[in-house]
Amino acid sequence: MTGQNENGNLRSARWWAPDDLRSFGHRSRLRQMGYTPEDFLGKPVIAIVDTGSDINPCHQHFRQRVEEVKRGVWQAGGFPLQMPALSLSEPIQKPSSMLYRNLLSMEVEELLRSYPIDGAVLMGGCDKTTPALVMGATSAQIPSVFLPAGPMLRGNAQGKTLASGTSAWRMWADRRAGLIGRAEVDEIEQGIARSAGHCMTMGTASTMTAATEALGLTLPGASSLPAADSRHAQMAALAGRQAVEVVRLGLTPARILTEEAFDNAVTVVAALGGSTNSVIHLIAMARRAGIQLGLERFDELSRRVPTLANLAPSGEYLMEDFFYAGGLRALMARIADLLHLDALTVNGQTIGQQIAGAEVYNDDVIRTLDNPLWPEGGLAVLHGNLAPDGAVIKQTAAAAELLVHTGPAVVFENYDDMAARIDDENLEVGPDSVLVLRQAGPIGGPGMPEWGQLPLPAKLLREGIRDLVRISDARMSGTSYGTCVLHVAPESAAGGPLALVRTGDLITLDVPARRLHLEVSDEELERRRAAWTPPPAHYERGWGKLYSDSTGQANEGCDLTFLQAGPPTPEPAIH
Ligand code: FES
Repeated sequence: MTGQNENGNLRSARWWAPDDLRSFGHRSRLRQMGYTPEDFLGKPVIAIVDTGSDINPCHQHFRQRVEEVKRGVWQAGGFPLQMPALSLSEPIQKPSSMLYRNLLSMEVEELLRSYPIDGAVLMGGCDKTTPALVMGATSAQIPSVFLPAGPMLRGNAQGKTLASGTSAWRMWADRRAGLIGRAEVDEIEQGIARSAGHCMTMGTASTMTAATEALGLTLPGASSLPAADSRHAQMAALAGRQAVEVVRLGLTPARILTEEAFDNAVTVVAALGGSTNSVIHLIAMARRAGIQLGLERFDELSRRVPTLANLAPSGEYLMEDFFYAGGLRALMARIADLLHLDALTVNGQTIGQQIAGAEVYNDDVIRTLDNPLWPEGGLAVLHGNLAPDGAVIKQTAAAAELLVHTGPAVVFENYDDMAARIDDENLEVGPDSVLVLRQAGPIGGPGMPEWGQLPLPAKLLREGIRDLVRISDARMSGTSYGTCVLHVAPESAAGGPLALVRTGDLITLDVPARRLHLEVSDEELERRRAAWTPPPAHYERGWGKLYSDSTGQANEGCDLTFLQAGPPTPEPAIH
């Protein structure tokens, strides 16, 4: 599908233009809503795909932003239609919003396909909404502009700046260590999230909106704009105008989402010290575009890109500071030599044109190349007999002294087992231990929840220990930190070697060598494998069953296998 065919005919004209009974029905129903043919005939129909709802605090400003997008669409001669879609609310949806990313992507694809849509503004930002919207529009091949929700303002309480997630994890460790009480928790609860917008650390939301800008799917600078800034509202109107323009220019996702564009996104994520979740999402997004992005590419690019963004959880500042320091355009200008500058964007310009002239206003927030936060990108990809298909670690958010470590495993069968025993005074665990959690992957979780930052045992917290090596097939919030090896593939529920680890086994983590090794002989592992039985399935029906039966593993992007790029899906018949 494209917004218009080679003769310049709009896709929507198939619904509105013919002199037949069906089109009469379509037109009469638009008139039922008060529109006249001057509003819609011959005009690009722009779907405003809105993932806001009353349950999504990060998108609470979308109700107003939809009106601003509509203003832009009308100004440019288009016909705007708001289309609400599944609202994935990261902090509230259970068992994990990740279980529903693919469902939203399917909904977006079919919304765009089954209605008379020529172009779209995709409104998202809260974690999984960004990849899901892009995946859906890519599969539908409808020209689209992505409008990021924008980060919320810095948190503030007790005279201190607070970071989404990151400050909460630290505060809760202090609470469990008995260092703070209920009253202090309450004050932080009031002030940690104090405006519309997504999490304001360089967590998954900020990483994915930045990656989407680097892919060329947003207007320049859009991903860094705080939600509460009046320039964000201006950006919404501009996105509406540009959505009409991308239809006229025929800028389908296929023209934007090239291999070079994905290299740019991975490079930018590395320079940002971005979320580990971006690995899964970018692989899934690329595969919808027919590009076989693999884990190795992340490691290759990450090794040659220094981390320049001094943003939590790896560094000290927040997205509001990043915006004032020049934002993503300025950071990209600083690594321009590492980018494909001729990659096309929805602005009709190249990435090189988009970032030309961008300046950094604070060298501590966006570091210089000779004074990086970390000499490499934040992410490292590990392999070994414990992760034959790979695992991921955010080395910039880990304890430096644990990046090369051998220690005995303490194994938890699943989250409930971990929760029941982690604070047991009799748990045999010490500073050298390696905590292992299984049953937390795409099938086992289910939905690969963000359990990868396993809590530290209370008795070690009281001794002042604040990090241990932790290994799981789970994901971790982009706002989290610690020496957490994540996304171990294949996952334990699918029979991956993580299922075979026993408490007391030695495990070696060597991040510089990109190695994750279980110090158990192949023969012994074969014996254990022969005795292994898969855990019972979580679902016998519904979406959960469809998801569990069809999801790929973490290294494949966790997309449903039948949603990846394939032969074109036919346009709907209209009769
Ligand atoms: Fe929405 Fe973090 S909760 S982005």
